[in-house]
Amino acid sequence: MKTPIRVAVTGAAGQIGYALLFRIASGAMFGPDQPVSLQLIEAPVEKALKALEGVAMELDDCAFPLLSSIQMTSEPKEGFAGANWCLLIGAKPRGPGMERADLLKDNGQIFIGQGRIIDEVAADDARIAVVGNPANTNCMIAASQAKRLPAERFTAMVRLDQNRAQTQLAKKAGVALTEVKNIFIYGNHSPSMFPAYAQATISGKPAAEVIGDEAWLQGTFCETVGKRGAAIINARGASSAASAANALVDHVHDLMTPGAIHSVAVKSEGRYGFDPNVWAGMPVRTTSPGSYEVIEGHSMDAFAQSKIAATNKELMEERGFVTA
Ligand code: NAD
Ligand code: LMR
Repeated sequence: MKTPIRVAVTGAAGQIGYALLFRIASGAMFGPDQPVSLQLIEAPVEKALKALEGVAMELDDCAFPLLSSIQMTSEPKEGFAGANWCLLIGAKPRGPGMERADLLKDNGQIFIGQGRIIDEVAADDARIAVVGNPANTNCMIAASQAKRLPAERFTAMVRLDQNRAQTQLAKKAGVALTEVKNIFIYGNHSPSMFPAYAQATISGKPAAEVIGDEAWLQGTFCETVGKRGAAIINARGASSAASAANALVDHVHDLMTPGAIHSVAVKSEGRYGFDPNVWAGMPVRTTSPGSYEVIEGHSMDAFAQSKIAATNKELMEERGFVTA
């Protein structure tokens, strides 16, 4: 039997937590022969902690063979101790009419404390994935607190946007989802994100050629993907949860799978014209479990460059807001 991977999850009793934990425990995130120990962290609020107990009872009742233990706590020092993966979901979601950046004031604080504690107590090989919004800037905040763990271990999730973009292209082209490849998300997880379609292929041909409608790609496509979160909030009265949990399964699964090519928000280090110190979505290739290299050299036309400039500007503004 392999040693269990210790997975710390914040906001474990929230909407995304409820859609996520069962999939981690079933093996969807780390594979069908990899045991996991769940370290579930909730806010020190009676209602949330009580709900968490209920979630743990349900996890027990699933009798998952791969679930080796469940720990519940409102103490981040206990919850992150020895964790190999820290999934930072616990944060306020936005409501109708808000932008994700409006959450910075409340949520930003959470990530200062958690970044510091993770750096202190998590495993030496710890990896961090941030979902709580605004995810890119919260990830930057958490990473800024780390002295031991390198910045590249801190990633934010743009995989939901990649999955959304893939589906929109497949629907427009009238093909199976699996025919769409190499669609990548650049920049912020916000309406300014850029779903770069220049490298995308549909049934092996350039996506732009198959779609044959540049105006749709530049307009409706980018807008639909960028504003999908708000559309879901308007329809459901609550922000996406099952699809967000699914995207986090994909994010971590692909970061643990050598050779996988996918979109991840990482410290830009100046690539693709982003400010070096923002966390921006870009294409990566997983090199070994938990490690990746950014895929460089994708050419950007004038439209792509203007989209990247706009999303970079927004990331710099968010950073300015938290460092002011
Ligand atoms: P939710 O309100 O249902 O759950 C959040 C949970 O976090 C609550 O149970 C709350 O008690 C807990 N929490 C709050 N502060 C905490 C702290 N300091 N430590 C531990 N737990 C804490 O919200 P949700 O729908 O699960 O969404 C969570 C976050 O994920 C939101 O910020 C939302 O906007 C974001 N989100 C991001 C993406 C993405 O693609 N990056 C997608 C969907 C949602
Ligand atoms: C999403 O993209 O669905 C989430 O980030 C939730 C939101 O606020 O849009």
